[in-house]
Amino acid sequence: MTSGASGRTATAGTAALLPLLFLLLQVSAGAGAGADCHFPAVFNFGDSNSDTGGLSAAFGAAPPPNGRTFFGMPAGRYCDGRLVIDFIAENLGIPYLSAYLNSIGSNFSQGANFATAGSTISRQNTSLFLSGFSPISLDVQSWEFEQFINRSQFVYNNKGGIYRELLPKAEYFSQALYTFDIGQNDITAGYFANMTSEQVVAFIPELMERLTSIIQSVHVLGGRNFWIHSTGPIGCLPYALIRRPDIAAVKDNVGCSVTYNKVAQLFNQRLKETVAHLRKTYPDAAFTYVDVYAAKYKLISQASKLGFDDPLLTCCGHDAGPYNFDPKVGCGGKVLVKGKWVVLGKSCDDPARRVSWDGVHFTEAANKFVFDQIVGGGLSDPPMPLRQACRSKGQ
Ligand SMILES: *[C@@H]1O[C@H](CO)[C@@H](O)[C@H](O)[C@H]1NC(C)=O
Ligand SMILES: *[C@@H]1O[C@H](CO)[C@@H](O)[C@H](O)[C@H]1NC(C)=O
Ligand SMILES: *[C@@H]1O[C@H](CO)[C@@H](O)[C@H](O)[C@H]1NC(C)=O
Ligand SMILES: *[C@@H]1O[C@H](CO)[C@@H](O)[C@H](O)[C@H]1NC(C)=O
Repeated sequence: MTSGASGRTATAGTAALLPLLFLLLQVSAGAGAGADCHFPAVFNFGDSNSDTGGLSAAFGAAPPPNGRTFFGMPAGRYCDGRLVIDFIAENLGIPYLSAYLNSIGSNFSQGANFATAGSTISRQNTSLFLSGFSPISLDVQSWEFEQFINRSQFVYNNKGGIYRELLPKAEYFSQALYTFDIGQNDITAGYFANMTSEQVVAFIPELMERLTSIIQSVHVLGGRNFWIHSTGPIGCLPYALIRRPDIAAVKDNVGCSVTYNKVAQLFNQRLKETVAHLRKTYPDAAFTYVDVYAAKYKLISQASKLGFDDPLLTCCGHDAGPYNFDPKVGCGGKVLVKGKWVVLGKSCDDPARRVSWDGVHFTEAANKFVFDQIVGGGLSDPPMPLRQACRSKGQ
């Protein structure tokens, strides 16, 4: 099944009659260029940049003050409020995505979120408890998605009742937008395992092969509209700067690591080519590559002009070093003092003026800025707005 009316263009070669031609042009204007797609659901895959509760459901909830700005309490997000995926859902008129792993109070009628914090494209040879990287790599997320389709349709059809309100209709799977934001942790996992940049760069082709085969599997299951984010300027994130001082040594005029950012850009170049290749291979599907890197770097490099404080200063953390980031005490982190738990990882007073929430993730204000940069298509290949991302097909 292809999505909606995008295939309906006027083949008006025989239209000698002016009124008929006029009519056809009107039809094609209404259904073709400029018209919004109908995305009744969003299925998201990724890491903490778009996790709306997956890791929290299984491995312990993100503690307060996460969520303080928008939700008024922790909401499974590593942020004071909404993520880019939340602004995407809002823009498409869809409720915030429930995490697939969250079995309590979830509503999947208009999508599901398979992203979990710490996830990577490739499987890690380590454990969450050793390295902080999640076992729910992208292939696992795609298996979850396969289970989700099969079981939701079985339950929708055979149990009915309340489940018809909580699970997607069958046709939503081909009409939905499939969003991906992953890769940051593959790069940092390499560096944090003490690899050289050459070693990290050397495994990018393997990452692209895995990503391609996973997107192919989603396509086989019916996905047709893909919206794929590039990875951000990792070299501007306090946790990465602190973890590898050697890689962080050479800085640009903003204070970001040149080396980390070069590797992130190299990853993104390969990602853009990979998406272009997928677009060629599957003319029945739409693939949009979205340059989130450019949006994030613009924010960081023009922070003061845009009304933000020092972009490398962590809002929620423990006063330690130049970034207010302490790798031992994260946002909401506590220590035991004379038998009493004391919160050390506290929020700054005004997260709306900060770019970095916790040294790893962006604040809601920063996420909103990034969303505003990407929603119109100006940073996309092809340059399709979010609401028209079912149209970025072609050979
Ligand atoms: C894990 O180990 C396997 C086998 O040695 C190797 O092929 C793979 O690249 C490793 N993965 C990572 C992420 O290091
Ligand atoms: C889903 O259903 C299809 C068709 O019935 C089957 O081939 C596939 O193995 C099922 N997948 C899972 C994960 O159950
Ligand atoms: C689930 O969400 C849909 C809209 O997305 C809504 O119509 C429905 O009432 C919700 N069901 C429950 C039980 O919350
Ligand atoms: C990486 O190197 C640092 C510094 O030599 C060392 O402390 C750390 O244990 C190493 N990490 C790994 C995963 O090998």
